[in-house]
Amino acid sequence: MVNKDEKSKKNAPLIGIDIGGTGIKGGIVDLKRGKLAGDRFRVPTPQPSTPEAVAEAVAHVVEELSKRPDAPSAHSPIGVTFPGIIQHGVVHSTANVDNAWLGLDIDGLLTARLGRPVEVINDADAAGLAEARYGAGEGVKGTVLVITLGTGIGSAFIFDGKLVPNAELGHLEIDGFDAESKASAVARERDGLSWEEYSVLLQRYFSHVEFLFSPELFIVGGGISKRADEYLPRLKLRTPIVPAELKNDAGIVGAAIEIALKHKLAK
Ligand code: BGC
Repeated sequence: MVNKDEKSKKNAPLIGIDIGGTGIKGGIVDLKRGKLAGDRFRVPTPQPSTPEAVAEAVAHVVEELSKRPDAPSAHSPIGVTFPGIIQHGVVHSTANVDNAWLGLDIDGLLTARLGRPVEVINDADAAGLAEARYGAGEGVKGTVLVITLGTGIGSAFIFDGKLVPNAELGHLEIDGFDAESKASAVARERDGLSWEEYSVLLQRYFSHVEFLFSPELFIVGGGISKRADEYLPRLKLRTPIVPAELKNDAGIVGAAIEIALKHKLAK
């Protein structure tokens, strides 16, 4: 039986941190509503983004958040995202961050630096979890694919609300290219593409993913989900495709959900 004390800890706010290629963002996550309690706090990602420098920046974000009156207890676990494959707390790919991370025990590094339990998941997986629980994928049965368009292309494979971790669908090879090298949001800017031109690449990408997985729903995340009107109406797919609802906070919220689930602190 769960005693009263343990029960009151369920869905209590937790800190979530989102490590990205350009910024490290953190917030206190209200797990009852799937939203940030208060503003998020951001620092630029150190360049080069070496493990030591990033760990230092994460510690700074946590210190700032911990000063707030509504900060979770100093012993509570922290959820963190990372833009690469994370299996059993170890980094297995680094497409858009420093290669020194490869093979590193990121859970161990951050737990030691912060002096409290830390668990890390892939950034797109975190965004996917947040969308599945509190956003555009809430209550959807079957396969939901969350695709984030940013510096790279990230993906989360959700089935019946549960995450199947580390789907790396941004690295599908399409027409001889790694998909994210042509169809990410950063690639669009780099190549100076109009929305119309960019939509052609997205059409090719999403048709291919649709053919492979026949999902029930596509959710498009990342910074340019704010401009969804420019490209989503141009796509012809049999799968409904909608913008993410949590926008920039999805990674932070998802990181907190994951750590809460792992520590049995969420309902
Ligand atoms: C990485 C993914 C990550 C995505 C978005 C890709 O290059 O391989 O792990 O989720 O970028 O950051």
